Amino acid sequence: MSINRTGPLFSQVEAQVLEALDAAVLVLEMGRRVRYFNAAAENLLRISTGQGVGQKLARLCQTPESAENLDQILDDAERIGSSVTRYALTLHVFDGTRVLVDMIASVDSLLGWVIEFRPVESSLQHAEEEAQEKIFNAAQEMIRGLAHEVKNPLGGLRGAAQLLEQELDSGELREYTQIIIHEVDRLRRLVDRLQGPNTRPQPCPVNIHQVLEHVRRLQLADLPTDIAVRFDYDLSIPDLYADPEQLVQVFLNLLRNAQQAMMGHGEILVRTRVERFVTLQQQIHRLGLRVDIIDDGPGIAPDLFPRIFLPLVSSRADGMGMGLAIVQNMVRGHGGTVQCRSEPGQTVFSVRLPLPQQRSAS
Ligand SMILES: Nc1ncnc2c1ncn2[C@@H]1O[C@H](COP(=O)(O)OP(=O)(O)OP(=O)(O)O)[C@@H](O)[C@H]1O
Ligand SMILES: [Mg+2]
Repeated sequence: MSINRTGPLFSQVEAQVLEALDAAVLVLEMGRRVRYFNAAAENLLRISTGQGVGQKLARLCQTPESAENLDQILDDAERIGSSVTRYALTLHVFDGTRVLVDMIASVDSLLGWVIEFRPVESSLQHAEEEAQEKIFNAAQEMIRGLAHEVKNPLGGLRGAAQLLEQELDSGELREYTQIIIHEVDRLRRLVDRLQGPNTRPQPCPVNIHQVLEHVRRLQLADLPTDIAVRFDYDLSIPDLYADPEQLVQVFLNLLRNAQQAMMGHGEILVRTRVERFVTLQQQIHRLGLRVDIIDDGPGIAPDLFPRIFLPLVSSRADGMGMGLAIVQNMVRGHGGTVQCRSEPGQTVFSVRLPLPQQRSAS
């Protein structure tokens, strides 16, 4: 719990309330330097306490050049002597990311400036997550039913073909029973893949960067020389409790997809970050891990986009359309979510996983 950074500004209870808020709150002194910001602001603006306190607001976040800047909004509040609100304001935050927020700024002669940012995207994101969950559950149910119906007769078919083979004298005819057995085995493997991993996750403490470094080694072997993979790690991320083999599979599938989409050249960025107060599968976690796999390839066609996580959906001639369904299945099995944003030149897959709660203050 990060209470001590509020210093003498708030009582302990006030500080706890502020830290638990979903809205990002910043308090600035009259000279507009930051005195305090809560955990949600730390998460939204991608700053740490050391980077934020004492800084001018404009150093931490800015509006695009074409829009009204933050100082003008504060001037406005000062002039009219009450709080001002701006809706759907684009903010460029500390690490260059863009976020869409509603902003409320008020001035108090004792406290200074109080600024509240409410991310607009997060409610859209929750709605998107819910819709995705429904699709995922419906697809899982369908696959489970289908797999059951297909697998049972396959066993019988294989057994009958083997019996038939023993009765046949001619090698030529055995070729046909071999084709039956071969195709039955292929179908069975397909159904197994459709059903997802047949072992439950074997969780243990895992360092995400060790997983990603392992994936890097596996992937480097078949990476064209004109594709660069860049890694941007937040090394302060604590261990998560997960199945390392499944995590390797998740990130290998995402990296392979990025590489296959890029047509031989470009850059893939793998970025790790900590997030605070994340809602994953309708549960709030104080701490979460986000891994972004970003490529500068051509992006995903809009008509394909809503279906990419469904099994057997592929745009590649040799693709089975299982990579993302497996990613989704495994990440959800770990209590996490995976989301995608895509436009030509930038496709981002974001995997979010819960992190165990830490006791130390940040
Ligand atoms: N980074 C990306 N850039 C562009 N398109 C992508 C990207 N990732 C996935 N896709 C699209 O999503 C589709 C589904 O991906 P998925 O991994 O599920 O299947 P696949 O790669 O086609 O086959 P498989 O992974 O089973 O070999 C892909 O065929 C591709 O069209
Ligand atoms: Mg794939």
